[in-house]
Amino acid sequence: METGALGSALDIRSDEGTRDHVHGFHSYPARMHPITARRLIEQLSPPEGVLLDPFCGSGTVLVEGLLAGRQVIGVDANPLAIELAWLKTRTSTDGGRREILEGARAAVAFADERRKRRSGATHRYGAEDVSLFDPHVLLELDGLRAGLARMSASATKRALFLVLSSILVKVSRRPGDTAPSEAPRRLASGFTIRLFLKKTEELDFFGLGGFEELGPFEDFYSARAAGGAAAGKGNRSRGLVTNVDQGSAFGHFDHGVPAKDVSLEMDRGHEKRA
Ligand SMILES: C[S@@+](CC[C@H](N)C(=O)[O-])C[C@H]1O[C@@H](n2cnc3c(N)ncnc32)[C@H](O)[C@@H]1O
Repeated sequence: METGALGSALDIRSDEGTRDHVHGFHSYPARMHPITARRLIEQLSPPEGVLLDPFCGSGTVLVEGLLAGRQVIGVDANPLAIELAWLKTRTSTDGGRREILEGARAAVAFADERRKRRSGATHRYGAEDVSLFDPHVLLELDGLRAGLARMSASATKRALFLVLSSILVKVSRRPGDTAPSEAPRRLASGFTIRLFLKKTEELDFFGLGGFEELGPFEDFYSARAAGGAAAGKGNRSRGLVTNVDQGSAFGHFDHGVPAKDVSLEMDRGHEKRA
């Protein structure tokens, strides 16, 4: 790579563009800066070509690739990364967005009812969860989780579980994603439930559907074993933009998640999940 391309891609103010489009939706370790991704894509990948991010994380490069008109393919060993990349690269309809809001409201009503009735937890939580959250916060998270679990399997349910995931650190006793320490957080009763609804509304506002402005297309999604991930389509020319760090790769393995690569492929083609 030319050092000029990398130099100019890295020449950014730290907060510039980080909350544009869907980038601010969910924290993820060592995300590429969106402007770095945008500049590298513009300079190094062929217009209208196929762009591969073999360590796609939560999908910054993929989102910027789509915004720049590329077909994108992402691979990652972390299932959470693939879920986030899937959500952030989805197109959606007004009906789909309405369904997400309605699903969130139903889960909120379910959780709030349990909170008011002082119902206990729906199942027993481990020591790590108990130490991470204040008891009333854990109960509200439990109510939301149980409310979502009642929904039948759908894209709406997947999206809402990601919204729930996006608020976990904010309502936990951890000051930040990577901070090992814990500190008390005084959250009012009902705050966690309201935050979940607010995050869903924000997702609707700044995220999902953002690709509609690019014209109609559907997404194509596939998950398969490592090895077959980088298949491009037709004769399109190809480009590769990625970054990888040591830390983010292995946290999920510590929690017993199997190390299996899954991939995400997006085009103005068809939607398919293997
Ligand atoms: C720094 S993040 C990537 C950020 C991403 N390029 C973006 O656009 O923001 C690195 C990712 O590499 C993934 N990873 C590390 N080793 C891997 C491996 N052997 N196979 C697949 N993914 C891997 C991690 O799970 C993590 O999500």
